[in-house]
Amino acid sequence: MSNDIVYNYPKEKRFTLAILQDIQKEYGYIPREYMESTSHYLNIPLTDVYSLATFYKALSLKPKGKYAIKICNGTACHIRDSISILKELEDILGIKPGETTEDGLFSIELVNCIGACALAPVILINGKYYGHMTKEKVKALIDDLREVSTNE
Ligand code: FES
Repeated sequence: MSNDIVYNYPKEKRFTLAILQDIQKEYGYIPREYMESTSHYLNIPLTDVYSLATFYKALSLKPKGKYAIKICNGTACHIRDSISILKELEDILGIKPGETTEDGLFSIELVNCIGACALAPVILINGKYYGHMTKEKVKALIDDLREVSTNE
């Protein structure tokens, strides 16, 4: 890993969030060594960087899965039983929201409305929408993704 991202900004505390956002964009999470180099470069305590990284929901301290699954729990999806989709995913993958499977393939996250209410209940995987989800569809989708990834 290169720390270039950190040094792209002037050495001023007000750029802490911008640096963390760039790191998140590049790696999908904030690796610890980057928190350390940000703290060192900006000359601010590591705990301050850590607090910021944990405060903002868009930042993550853990790597996401190759397939980052977002389950919408906005109103339209919730009334169409998005929670049963979440439960099915938890059962199939053996993880809870915010976690990643041990093989690094899948992570799940419960989110608010993702702007596709007509497709409720909907999930989003790496930017692609999957609508009108049912437990059966979720299972088939996970099987497909597993297969695709073993054939890569
Ligand atoms: S409530 Fe799920 S997409 Fe809007």
